[in-house]
Amino acid sequence: MSSPIMPSPVMSSRLFTPIRIGDLALPSRIVMAPLTRSRAAPGNVPSDMAIEYYRQRASAALIITEATQISQQGQGYAWTPGIHSPEQIAGWQRITDSVHQAGGRMVLQLWHVGRVSHPVFQPGGARPVAPSVMPVPARAFVPGEDGKGGYADIPEPQALTQAGIRAIIADYAQAARNAIAAGMDGVEVHAANGYLLDQFLNSASNLRDDRYGGSVENRARLLLEVVDAVCAEIGSARVGVRLSPMGRSFGMDEATPEAIFGLVARELDRRGLAYLHLVEPTVRDREILTDVDPRAEALMAAIRATYRGPLMLAGGYTRALAEQALASGRGDIIAFGRPFIANPDLPARLALNAPLNEPDPTHFFGGDERGYIDYPALASQALQEAES
Ligand SMILES: Cc1cc2nc3c(=O)[nH]c(=O)nc-3n(C[C@H](O)[C@H](O)[C@H](O)COP(=O)(O)O)c2cc1C
Repeated sequence: MSSPIMPSPVMSSRLFTPIRIGDLALPSRIVMAPLTRSRAAPGNVPSDMAIEYYRQRASAALIITEATQISQQGQGYAWTPGIHSPEQIAGWQRITDSVHQAGGRMVLQLWHVGRVSHPVFQPGGARPVAPSVMPVPARAFVPGEDGKGGYADIPEPQALTQAGIRAIIADYAQAARNAIAAGMDGVEVHAANGYLLDQFLNSASNLRDDRYGGSVENRARLLLEVVDAVCAEIGSARVGVRLSPMGRSFGMDEATPEAIFGLVARELDRRGLAYLHLVEPTVRDREILTDVDPRAEALMAAIRATYRGPLMLAGGYTRALAEQALASGRGDIIAFGRPFIANPDLPARLALNAPLNEPDPTHFFGGDERGYIDYPALASQALQEAES
């Protein structure tokens, strides 16, 4: 992905203007999107390599961490970090210390995968939990015997009881408290991409007939109760929420996106959060679609009009597209995912219109420092090129 040469000087760029979100003063609009890298150490503790990985990217206006499970039940992928044990909290503390020392800011993405899991991750080898019992159109990324990850079929999940739901809400609140104890500047509630909270929002995965299913109010209830519990714990100015309106990951297929996401935007607007983060409807798994659902643009505009706080957008952004989105008022902040994997100094590169390194997908999930902490920054790259 190379960034086009922009005729306008950086001074007139909106990407490089500051913005306040909740308690945080961001120096630019360039955020590092949450990126699972599946390299946690035993006990799902963030690794030593992760300290270097995040420190290298501290010039982002804000780092949103890789999705981090709030409980053992919330895990669905091999080697993802948690935020529910003392060792995990201590592990994250080393990372926030190093990012803060480098002048950065960082929030932790709180994750419960719901049905996108496997008994190997579940306490007691149980079946994963979900809003409803139905086949899961997905496979789980599990640790293989050779030390590499592999994909496994997901058994039919068990439907959460109301007591089970209450326990999960308490886990979110505790995880938020743990994130602050680990030195995070806040948290992002992951309600996107087909995981637990999205499974409750979505009519394709939520077939419940209790107060958590059926009407849009009922389907939004779990997300809003989680957000309220997290805000009560750490204050709404330190809480963001990520949604993927019209997302299709892991069997999501919402019949009335305008109704459910309209309600969620209205309810979140009342809560005074730090920000709302939207994955573009053009994102399908790791593809950026060109044939977009014709309702998508109207839905994004409706959310923008309803939600009056800072709005972050993610999915397929280049510098040019980001400048366009900011200039048109479509959003206030842009999160870059894959460009940040391959370009630790992405803000500097965007400012200079410098060429971007290409990310190597074979190193996205699992492995060692290759494709993780060995992408060069501009200065060292120039040196390497001069020497070769
Ligand atoms: C390797 C990889 C891991 C990802 N992990 C997460 C994650 O942990 N949480 C999340 O909300 N999104 C995750 N995403 C989605 C990204 O945050 C982002 O929305 C997506 O990559 C589109 O943005 P981009 O085109 O700038 O990469 C991941 C994407 C990739 C490529």
